[in-house]
Amino acid sequence: MTAFSASEVSRLREETPGCAHAAHFNHAGASLMPQIVIDATVGHLMREATIGGYEAADEADVRLEATYHSIATLINANRTELAVVENATRGWDMAFYAIPFAAGDRILTSASEYGSNVISFLQMAERGVSVEVIPTDEQGQVSVAHLANMLDDCVKVVAISHMPTNGGLIQPAAEIGNVVKGSGAIYILDACQTVGQMPIDVKAIGCDVLTATSQKYLRGPRGVGFLYVNESLIEQLTPPFLDNHAATWTARDTIEIRRDARRFENWESYVAGKLGMRAAIDYGLQLDLERIWATIDIQAGLLRARLSSIPGITVQDLGVNKGGIVTFTDERVGAVEIRNHLAANRINATTSSIFSTRFDMEARGLTKLVRTSVRYLTTDEEIERLIESVAAVTA
Ligand SMILES: Cc1ncc(COP(=O)(O)O)c(C=O)c1O
Repeated sequence: MTAFSASEVSRLREETPGCAHAAHFNHAGASLMPQIVIDATVGHLMREATIGGYEAADEADVRLEATYHSIATLINANRTELAVVENATRGWDMAFYAIPFAAGDRILTSASEYGSNVISFLQMAERGVSVEVIPTDEQGQVSVAHLANMLDDCVKVVAISHMPTNGGLIQPAAEIGNVVKGSGAIYILDACQTVGQMPIDVKAIGCDVLTATSQKYLRGPRGVGFLYVNESLIEQLTPPFLDNHAATWTARDTIEIRRDARRFENWESYVAGKLGMRAAIDYGLQLDLERIWATIDIQAGLLRARLSSIPGITVQDLGVNKGGIVTFTDERVGAVEIRNHLAANRINATTSSIFSTRFDMEARGLTKLVRTSVRYLTTDEEIERLIESVAAVTA
């Protein structure tokens, strides 16, 4: 699939006001919204201010419903399998805490699993559930062979971060799905860093649960995300909280929980954000996820090659296939100092610490990395600016 040409990238950058202000290498934190997304979000806030919040939601009814259609198209799901929630973590929690764990159950997870997810596992460990890290292969990705050997009737959950917060590693999600299928375990894929970056097909991957957020590679507003739960699982999962959107108070002592995945939603929500996320998804779909992915692949490869040419710098991304997150360390200068130097030069990057991915970072003797992340918007010139700046601060 063809990457975007330089002239297409220029046009896409013109559609993105933030490109004029800084060289943005923090798309994995929050990307830059295109104008069409800003208009959808701010436009709705203005309608709320003008005619009233509930009235504006009624007016936007059809567009709000269309959000589910857009997500369904994006990940090849059914509309009934989707919940729109505050962020990826909340979506993940709503599914995870609905699972009826019992002492003796096992949770198998990736070494690079996201910190919030592991916090939830460790909370379950206090109730007698064991938390086991699937060994990695030579490339640092989940060893599917080891996973196959670990599966037994006690494995309740296999939880994988598709791309971790601390590097470009892309886990072999579909191979994992293939092995987990039929084992009785629930396969939860945290796709927070991959949705919007590459084509994602929940049916092809075979995950039971998938979570994603709006503000990262989708380029939507902050404060909104979504949860997918396979239709065969929805009614087996009772959400940890219910309200009068997720359920109905049908008689004095009875309630009826919704039968679709909106049982994981709640009534009061960020309506403008939902419309903004929908606009962001439609924008991405129209650009074509294959082309987006092809462009990111080239720019991330270029950035890794250029960083590796700086003496003292080690690129820390694991995996056979790598995506848009590029992390590195320098043997003399700390990650925070490098990030601050970049910020002073109007280059947005961030750091990723052991608190987010302790299993992996401890195993590799790392505590903090500089995290950069590219998008199809990233130009060769921006990469050169970043390289000059990193070379200067580490010289
Ligand atoms: C792998 C991964 N999962 C989950 C999250 C959390 O996403 P959110 O902030 O939308 O809850 C992040 C955020 O960095 C992440 O990198």
